[in-house]
Amino acid sequence: MTDAIKQDVETAELFTEQEIRIFSFDIRQSILLHRFAEELAAIGGPQAPGARSKASLAATELKFSFSKDQCELLAAYSNGLVCVLIFEGLQKITDASPPNELPDLASLENRYDVLCLAARNQILLKLVDNSAFAYDMDNEGKLVRLVANLKGGGLTKINAEPEIKELSSHSGLALGPHTEAPYWCAVNAKDGHSPSPSSLILSALWNPSLEPTRVIPLPPVLEKIGVTHCLALTTGNFQFTRSDSFVSGKGENGRNVSILEFDDKVGFAARFNSYRFSVNDNASNFVKTAYATLCQGVSEATPVEYTLTQESAMVINNVRALHCRDVIKDNRRVLVRIFGLSKFSSSVVISEDPLLLQG
Ligand SMILES: [Fe+2]
Repeated sequence: MTDAIKQDVETAELFTEQEIRIFSFDIRQSILLHRFAEELAAIGGPQAPGARSKASLAATELKFSFSKDQCELLAAYSNGLVCVLIFEGLQKITDASPPNELPDLASLENRYDVLCLAARNQILLKLVDNSAFAYDMDNEGKLVRLVANLKGGGLTKINAEPEIKELSSHSGLALGPHTEAPYWCAVNAKDGHSPSPSSLILSALWNPSLEPTRVIPLPPVLEKIGVTHCLALTTGNFQFTRSDSFVSGKGENGRNVSILEFDDKVGFAARFNSYRFSVNDNASNFVKTAYATLCQGVSEATPVEYTLTQESAMVINNVRALHCRDVIKDNRRVLVRIFGLSKFSSSVVISEDPLLLQG
């Protein structure tokens, strides 16, 4: 390996090390978190009125038990400077093993262990100053989304395998690198659209075959494609197709958006989806080349892999990292996901409690 290449590899590794951080709960802290999660689940979980302030109080209480180093790590994520924060040392929620065929979505969503995981996610989001929320036009307006092969497309067929597979987290299909929709803006509301989620948090109810979640931190990719291409990606020359998770009849394709933007508070913010974005036909060659270079940079990046269980959770900074996954191999896998809105974001609020935003 030449010195220059070695330097590149080392720089990339250093970047990744700083971008993916692990927060370890000690036993006392995780017992306290578990107690708060159970109390929140008892009132109905994140969707229940009052859950927002209860999660906030729980986070404040937990912070008293954290060391200086732990507080600094939370602050680094909260300030937008980390791509992924992984919480480890969490309590196991249930010993119940997954059925061979998953029940329907509604019965899964109402399980107490699911509510506990969702409640715990809401509190963990609050530790990094993110508020759990839902969009009016996505996931039926609900805060909690179960990521599981409910609609087919996995390696193994489900009972009611449909002909046409939905390209969303409710299917078993592989999903290429993306940030979460909507894609109109990344930090500040624009033209009546709230920004993309600032964060998404994931934990696993069941992941029997230990299938990993993959994340691609963007800073090393952007460093590699260079400043001129990055500037071209800040122009409004890109379009996207409507997401399959949107409420039927709501949400739409979008035009004339940028992929990157400079933001005074977090530096840069990104929106991108490898299977929904494209460059406008009438864009300049500079912009088309920049887009092709980004796509290539993303496809060449080595994702960081992490296998979620009940004892861990992962918060992904949705304006600084892409995530993706392989086709689902074990149909018993169920993840619990919630979106978070950061302290820096401005949004169009429809209701405060539970927090519902116009998408
Ligand atoms: Fe996703």
